[in-house]
Amino acid sequence: MKKFTCVEDIGDLRAAVAEAFEIKRDRFAYSELGRNRTLLMIFFNSSLRTRLSTQKAAMNLGMNVMVLDVNQGAWKLETERGVVMDGDKAEHLLEAIPVMASYCDLIGVRSFAQLKDKAEDYEERVIEQFIRYSGRPVFSMEAATRHPLQSFADLITIEEHKTTERPKIVMTWAPHPKALPQAVPNSFAEWINATDYEFVITHPEGYELDPKFVGRAKVEYDQRKAFEGADFIYAKNWSAYADPNYGKVISTDRDWTVDSEKMALTNNAYFMHCLPVRRNMIVTDEVIESERSLVIPEAANREISAEVVIKRLLESLK
Ligand code: CP
Repeated sequence: MKKFTCVEDIGDLRAAVAEAFEIKRDRFAYSELGRNRTLLMIFFNSSLRTRLSTQKAAMNLGMNVMVLDVNQGAWKLETERGVVMDGDKAEHLLEAIPVMASYCDLIGVRSFAQLKDKAEDYEERVIEQFIRYSGRPVFSMEAATRHPLQSFADLITIEEHKTTERPKIVMTWAPHPKALPQAVPNSFAEWINATDYEFVITHPEGYELDPKFVGRAKVEYDQRKAFEGADFIYAKNWSAYADPNYGKVISTDRDWTVDSEKMALTNNAYFMHCLPVRRNMIVTDEVIESERSLVIPEAANREISAEVVIKRLLESLK
């Protein structure tokens, strides 16, 4: 594997999940693989889980790790070619990328959607420039339109907890005060569509995702109906994708908050969320603290998904 930005990059999902379970049984089994190798993690946006879990995964593999917060202590980076750089950005990505690459073997990049220009976001201009100009294997730590390390961890978590071969997975929009990218729901949909699970997406009208990601999922606008018989409820907020509202909050209707009354409609479903989560906006205290909440094991599996991905990228260097 030379890069990791989407579900296709991981190949056969059953093999990837089996590898994840193997790593989870002994996460130090490949501690020689990364000896004298360096991972550079570059953050254009904040993180708690991705930063810590990815660093831990790389250390499990024996790697050295460097972390660069672009917005804290580094030169501000220009990402667009052709711009007259007379503003506050002192360095261009086209110089910064090969310089950073000269210090490392692998590069992880976090760069969110700007939510201003749909075409710009959906072209994935930042991570694509790292792939093109670094000469190093690059992996996404959440890009403008996908968060594949999260989705892989979500899949591992579902595989650990499912009690039927084809569980019913419901991804539900839930309210949030700020405009959030579509990366997590896009990516979750992409990964679940690559399984044979039953898959339903529910959201208010106007929050339709890119059809490319919705794929074979059934879209149900009645959240309560969608929850009926669900085995897993995956909650997430996202801003509008459809024009003319791209990147906007068009509803904060708290009737969409996941609560115990709605969870009672399910098949005793597990509750999932990628975190960070706004309590009593996305989900009530009662649901997130219930014994059916998987948010902590889901976050813990981020270490495992990252370790599988970094291991495969390291193996590509040989
Ligand atoms: N789920 C997730 O990516 O968390 P962070 O934003 O804290 O990394």
